[in-house]
Amino acid sequence: MARIVIFDHPLIKHKLSFIRDMNTGSKEFRELVTEISMLVAYEATRDFPLMEVEIETPMQKMTTEILQGKKVGLVPILRAGLGMVEGFLKIIPAAKIGHIGLYRDHDTLQPVEYFCKMPQDVDERDLIVLDPMLATGGTVVAAVDMLKKRNPRSIRVVSLIAAPEGMKNVKEHHPDIDIYVAALDEKLDKNGYILPGLGDAGDRLFGTK
Ligand code: URA
Repeated sequence: MARIVIFDHPLIKHKLSFIRDMNTGSKEFRELVTEISMLVAYEATRDFPLMEVEIETPMQKMTTEILQGKKVGLVPILRAGLGMVEGFLKIIPAAKIGHIGLYRDHDTLQPVEYFCKMPQDVDERDLIVLDPMLATGGTVVAAVDMLKKRNPRSIRVVSLIAAPEGMKNVKEHHPDIDIYVAALDEKLDKNGYILPGLGDAGDRLFGTK
């Protein structure tokens, strides 16, 4: 059964309030997205398996636990997903990074792939798709479709803010995928923006408008 995790942590709520605020500038927005990404990375890796090892402290020998050498691939969806990479890399520094680029076709409104570059050993990796805004879910559904064709060991999706419509869409198309979101908002507006949301995450990260 796939996991749906909506975070309920005061630090995350506090930092989200500042990135939602329209008066927060790009520099602070980026820093906060990195900090929130670190916090969600901590929880989104809770099921990583451990193995026992013998070490020696300055005092005595002991049996302790380390990660089972899990190979992780971070997959930011361009462009806003890039904002989450630094925070995840601080927690999982050995991760490799694949990139996915999708645009929405004007006529069909369907996401169209324009870029996909994955680590060569993607089939040995557990992938974490990074998309700060899970709005309609169309992009994430298409990204997971693309990734499944490459046979990774597993795929999970991490977003900062989700709309119920997007969560439903991803769950319906990919019921096997774990989804982690820092906050679940009310709804989408007619243009597919999340309400109350934070506006356009890419524009706020990169200072474009
Ligand atoms: N993408 C964004 O950047 N913001 C939204 O609210 C929805 C999609």
